[in-house]
Amino acid sequence: MSAASRDSARETAPARPSGAARPFGRPFSRVAVVGAGTMGHGIAQAAAMAGYPTALHDAGEAELRRGMVRIAATLDKGVALGKVAEAAREAALSRLRAARRLEEAVQEADLVIEAVPESMELKTAVLRSVAEAVGSVAPATPSKAVLATNTSSLSVGAMADGLPSPDRFLGLHFFNPVHLMALVEVVEGPKTGVETLERCLEFVRDLGKEPIVVADSPGFASSRLGVALGLEAIRMVEAGVASPPDIDKAMELGYRHPMGPLKVTDLVGLDVRLGIARHLHETLSSEAFRPPALLERMVAEGKLGKKSGRGFYDWSGKSAAGDRKSPTRSGTATASRGLS
Ligand SMILES: NC(=O)c1ccc[n+]([C@@H]2O[C@H](COP(=O)([O-])OP(=O)(O)OC[C@H]3O[C@@H](n4cnc5c(N)ncnc54)[C@H](O)[C@@H]3O)[C@@H](O)[C@H]2O)c1
Repeated sequence: MSAASRDSARETAPARPSGAARPFGRPFSRVAVVGAGTMGHGIAQAAAMAGYPTALHDAGEAELRRGMVRIAATLDKGVALGKVAEAAREAALSRLRAARRLEEAVQEADLVIEAVPESMELKTAVLRSVAEAVGSVAPATPSKAVLATNTSSLSVGAMADGLPSPDRFLGLHFFNPVHLMALVEVVEGPKTGVETLERCLEFVRDLGKEPIVVADSPGFASSRLGVALGLEAIRMVEAGVASPPDIDKAMELGYRHPMGPLKVTDLVGLDVRLGIARHLHETLSSEAFRPPALLERMVAEGKLGKKSGRGFYDWSGKSAAGDRKSPTRSGTATASRGLS
């Protein structure tokens, strides 16, 4: 679709605040989410909170149970903090159901969002099974089921190739944690239909989130820009331009970024960032994405960021506060308390 028709799709999808009256009906009647991990449980929660009957499925029984428990815990916390009304929590939970079998989850859904791990092979296989199972039990609109992927880096067009209706397939890239993050990248594959795009834009707004429309290009908009900034910050640590906290402060105080690029790298995981950098370097043939030697070395040393206790900051809570302003040779400083 051209940029002009994308703009027109954007304009035709009316913006509505989450939970507001819906005089025109909804873009979808039932949602299913496949994969109940970090992202899947959050997406299911957001859909149920917005009023959609939602089924959550995972290949693992324990993972499915954990996903449902995490949703209840997040809603409980929301109630405790006064951000979610008790009645809204109860209503959301009543709209949610855990489905052990994929068919049971998706057969009546007209929007299915996959959130299984980032593997083209796995996602393609899961989406094919979903395409076979949707509409298998006479739903209201069997021919209109839309399939979406929450991939953060893989080609939506390549995934669509194996599907019977590529016009009803696109990317819905949510951000972590889903209940707090307002952005959803709506990734338009080469064959995504205008109606599919419009319905999904409306759905995203229905969740109280802000969509942006992005072409199916490596790194979409968010990862491409975010990783470029993060890699340059790492090169600056390598070159001794400033310490990690000072580089982060440059962006936090100078450009009003809520969090500097090195803290973001620590939170995302240095290994995850390295994987994306390699992918973007290869697919975009741009030197901006060549992984810096420091990043390669830190990953090899197991300094993966917050999850390993050490990255550009020390997340173990063991270092002296004085370390903060003096990065070690690997560029590590002590993390500020507010982030750990
Ligand atoms: N974690 C993030 O910050 C983040 C942010 C944006 C997008 N994403 C993307 O979201 C997707 C999911 O990431 P995640 O972090 O939630 O992963 P995760 O590992 O936390 O969860 C994936 C879940 O999928 C389940 N699963 C695996 N195979 C399955 C199958 N065949 N059928 C059903 N369920 C299956 C797993 O049991 C697991 O519970 C990935 O594509 C990732 O790139 C992740």
